Amino acid sequence: MDLISALEGLVPELEKGLDQASSLEGLEALRVDFLGRKGRIAQIMSQLPKLEPEQRPAVGQTANSVKERCNELFESRKQALEAGREAEALKRFDPSIPGRAPWSGTLHPTTLVMEEICEIFKGLGFEIVSGPEVEIDYYNFEALNMPPEHPARDMQDTLYITDTVLMRTHTSPVQARTMLHRKPPLAVVAPGKVYRRDSDLTHTPMFHQIEGLMVGEGISMAHLRGTLTAFVRAIFGGDTQVRFRPSFFPFTEPSAEVDISCCICGGKGHIGDAPCRVCKTTGWVEILGCGMVDPAVFEAVGYDPEVSGFAFGMGVERVTMLKYGIGDLRMFFENDTRFLGQFAR
Ligand code: DAH
Repeated sequence: MDLISALEGLVPELEKGLDQASSLEGLEALRVDFLGRKGRIAQIMSQLPKLEPEQRPAVGQTANSVKERCNELFESRKQALEAGREAEALKRFDPSIPGRAPWSGTLHPTTLVMEEICEIFKGLGFEIVSGPEVEIDYYNFEALNMPPEHPARDMQDTLYITDTVLMRTHTSPVQARTMLHRKPPLAVVAPGKVYRRDSDLTHTPMFHQIEGLMVGEGISMAHLRGTLTAFVRAIFGGDTQVRFRPSFFPFTEPSAEVDISCCICGGKGHIGDAPCRVCKTTGWVEILGCGMVDPAVFEAVGYDPEVSGFAFGMGVERVTMLKYGIGDLRMFFENDTRFLGQFAR
């Protein structure tokens, strides 16, 4: 049996096979068939023990050079096939197809509206101030005329950290902090997060408020009304009507809640024949609480009780829902980009 010519015969056979191989996958199959562990070369070499010992070296040398030749043939065919594939891909590449625009983020609607509210008050001469979210009982309650055991503390479901440290339940403590280190006249707004132990369809444990405070000589309810009317018309539109309803807050006297004509139905209570769901057909929606700063608060911060001032506080999510007709508070916290993306500027 002539192993040498059997081995040498493999080369022209492989050349033929390679000519026909049209894919890299087919090429690999061919490689296994010739050079694999149980391939043709290996099969021929398995006959080696049957030869006389002195015949074996020559067969071994032939096997090595045939293997080397086979590898070279494979390599060059592989390169040719790869180049072909690339050329094919280039032919399919269409440079006239429009590119994809990079996806860019947007500000959260709460942030947008909070910034808008701050800009309006800056335009009215207010400064932006801030205070801590982890607050002490004194600023959150006591300095705001809510001593321990005051029933108004029940209005706010407080998240306590210790007996005297808590998550602020409103932005009103920033009033007290501001007055403690500044003298009147002053006009500030304090935006920020507030926390309450409350969670259902219309309440979330964290939400945003903006507090306002103006103190100075002769500040009256008329200034409060004028300021809030200007604000409401700037954010909801010049036709918006404003009404003050008597109310109660421990830190203001007198106190009021402010309603605006419903910006969804234009104050009509109906949209065509359909009842307006936002104002529940009343034509009015509540947007904030306010009042004249209670003298007890001035006393707590060491102000002359003869000064006067007004304060107000509003929920930013609420203003945002009214402004954009958003019916579900949960949308603010779900981070669904289909919702958020609509606020791109
Ligand atoms: N702090 C009140 C709340 O969270 C809102 C408020 C009402 C703030 C009247 C005020 C105010 O400054 O005068 O419900």
